[in-house]
Amino acid sequence: MPTQALRFRKLLTLCNFDVAFSLNDIGCGYGALLDYIALYHPQSSIDYLGIDVSPAMVRSARKRRSGELIQFHRGRESPRPADYSIASGIFNVMLDQPIAVWERLIETTLLHLSATSRKGFAVNFVYQPAPGESARSGLYCANPLRWIEFCEKRLGSEVSIIDGYGMSEFTLLVRPSRDRHD
Ligand SMILES: C[S@@+](CC[C@H](N)C(=O)[O-])C[C@H]1O[C@@H](n2cnc3c(N)ncnc32)[C@H](O)[C@@H]1O
Repeated sequence: MPTQALRFRKLLTLCNFDVAFSLNDIGCGYGALLDYIALYHPQSSIDYLGIDVSPAMVRSARKRRSGELIQFHRGRESPRPADYSIASGIFNVMLDQPIAVWERLIETTLLHLSATSRKGFAVNFVYQPAPGESARSGLYCANPLRWIEFCEKRLGSEVSIIDGYGMSEFTLLVRPSRDRHD
């Protein structure tokens, strides 16, 4: 399976495809997630909103896909709540930002994802390099514990980690704590 499809597969383990649901795709790019869903979940019924900060990406996504249940929005945050949210590959390229600034931006994004995702959200990060190896310049490499702890303590969520799928990254599935909802 190509790497991008594998990445989507891991993120989408969050969702129950047996029932209709709404989905926010933060940092949707040109809408590659929709290609994956059309191929692997053709029977699904999804009210999809793709959100991207880049006007060029939103333009290209709108040209490729549109429909009553497929919408796009330009911005950093979703204007609507949804059952689930996915953010794939948006925390990796920090360029020359100081790490503290970048991590604050990640925190703000996670807070927003938590506030706008009724059933949960999924995000991925690049792993820190192994001892002795150096990270590519401008790439944000994360310690999973840092973000698991943030989601548990600050968001009050339950977190599962998926890794070991043959890529130097990990995926977090973040769901509202059962204590808050039962
Ligand atoms: C590496 S691409 C990934 C695109 C798509 N998610 C995928 O996996 O194919 C990152 C995209 O996220 C967008 N982006 C990055 N940070 C964002 C943010 N905070 N809010 C919305 N879009 C963001 C960028 O403009 C870019 O189109």
